Amino acid sequence: MKPIIHELGARVRDALAAIGVDADPLLARSGDPKFGDYQSNAAMGLAKKLGRKPRDLAQAIVDAITVDDLCEPPTIAGPGFINFRLSPSFLAARLAAIPPAPEDGSDRLGLGSAENPDVVVVDLSSPNLAKEMHIGHLRSTVIGDCVARVLEFQGHTVHRENHVGDWGTQFGMLVAYLKRTEPEVVENPDTLEIGDLESFYVEAKALFDADEDFKTESRETVVALQSGDPVIRRIWKAFCDESLRHCHAIYDRLGVRLIDRGESFYNDLMDEVIIRLEKARDSGDHDYVRDSDGALCIFPGGFTTRDGDPLPLLVRKSDGGFNYATSDLATILHRVEQLKATRIIYVVGITQKQHFDMLFAAARKVGWVDQEMPLEHLAFGNVLASDGRPFKTREGGVVKLKDVLEQAVARARGVIEKDSDLSADQADNVAETVGLAAVKYFDLCHSLKSDYKFNLDHMLAMEGNTAPYMLYAYARIRSIQRKAKVDHVQLTADMQITIEHPAEIELATKLLQFAEVIETVGRDLYPNVLTDYLFELAKSFSRFYDKKIGVRVIDAPEDLRLSRLRICDLTARVLKTGLRLLGIETIERM
Ligand code: ARG
Repeated sequence: MKPIIHELGARVRDALAAIGVDADPLLARSGDPKFGDYQSNAAMGLAKKLGRKPRDLAQAIVDAITVDDLCEPPTIAGPGFINFRLSPSFLAARLAAIPPAPEDGSDRLGLGSAENPDVVVVDLSSPNLAKEMHIGHLRSTVIGDCVARVLEFQGHTVHRENHVGDWGTQFGMLVAYLKRTEPEVVENPDTLEIGDLESFYVEAKALFDADEDFKTESRETVVALQSGDPVIRRIWKAFCDESLRHCHAIYDRLGVRLIDRGESFYNDLMDEVIIRLEKARDSGDHDYVRDSDGALCIFPGGFTTRDGDPLPLLVRKSDGGFNYATSDLATILHRVEQLKATRIIYVVGITQKQHFDMLFAAARKVGWVDQEMPLEHLAFGNVLASDGRPFKTREGGVVKLKDVLEQAVARARGVIEKDSDLSADQADNVAETVGLAAVKYFDLCHSLKSDYKFNLDHMLAMEGNTAPYMLYAYARIRSIQRKAKVDHVQLTADMQITIEHPAEIELATKLLQFAEVIETVGRDLYPNVLTDYLFELAKSFSRFYDKKIGVRVIDAPEDLRLSRLRICDLTARVLKTGLRLLGIETIERM
């Protein structure tokens, strides 16, 4: 099943062809349902070119078009907009054609898969292993997971790459400190346990700052690490493994899958990056690769220093060391050449915008990435404290992500306890789901680039665009179905659907927009488009089920009753599928 907008677009295109024009139908969803569901703006631009009056051209298109199986007769408005309103019978037939949900939870709601699937790399989460994950990693993890889920749902192959920071001078210090404080780790690297990575780092850093001998030892350790000293490597690996265990405790809890491929994975490839760039530099016909103050640089063009001089991407420092750009150029080589990526998405905070702008420009300049291949920095804003200040502990330290999640779950538990007949175990489970869902949903429903204030009261509110509201909306439909005593699995595809009441038309129209929303999110990567849609859908359902403005469902006449119960079921399925794509599990009873 295709999104309706494409089906309708093809009809407009055919009509244009019938009057001798080959042009884009310029079809979009109407801003205001008063005018219909879709609108074509083709006539205005074309009229100028063809030397005709826009309204006449619009009329010619309307005369030539065949849409009576989809829409009411199209109308012309203003200077020549063509408005389309889907017909109730089409809405009913479309909904009725959605196949039943498979038992295994992989509901696709009858949507087809991408015709030309991409191989997409999503670079997500990517914390620094020297420390504990903090609140900032919530965003790169949750947004990245959502984007990956949507792309997988569309049928693309997705590599979820966790580009953890596991290399660099900090690790010399940490390994040296570990050697001092836990000498037995050399013999038993697998038994290493560090309860609190954050304070471990702080202690190591304090010693580093205070003790010259330790500083020297740390520096020597970095050299030993880089030259592959087996003992140092083993301690380093033990540290990274332990830090990754901390990360994965969080990923498991959040239901996020990914592949750990840290900076160290790219060590050999970084040499390859340099070899290729030196070759380009020495060949003489790539003047954008050259040395500058002893450093090897790419000058992608279009970037300037404050003084207006061309700004290069520094790939090898004058001391011979590599940097962040070197490893990111290596990620590009790996992803393009080995993973065969056709689209790469970096889910990283907006503060790294310049780095990615330059990286992408440089990679294209040296020809490692085709001009057309999408390289996207999916940049997001900061999470602030609820008073709008930087998110810090009372002592001014970073707030650990695991503590934040713990708090949200505890708060959710408090909300449930008041008036529930759930057992303690059930309540714990519900609190876990609701608490984590609240944090995720709140993050995803904000527009990506702006900062937002972390506020447990807002995210756990039962009213408004929140996870508890959405989860409740879902559970409520399931409870209606239980009350009606129909098993939703038995509401089979061959059952008639009738759409007649305005609230029914509104809900059916909303339900059928799901395909377009998924397409938009897969293209633009804005999760809040999906949360907004689901919120609208839940509100449409409330109106549909409302005693005054909606329809009777459980006590409706028998044929309408089954049709409406089927609409309830489809609404629950779209909510469940949409929430699943946000990384949120639904609950049947709340
Ligand atoms: N580890 C980096 C940081 O904490 C983020 C890495 C993002 N991914 C990348 N390929 N640069 O800032």
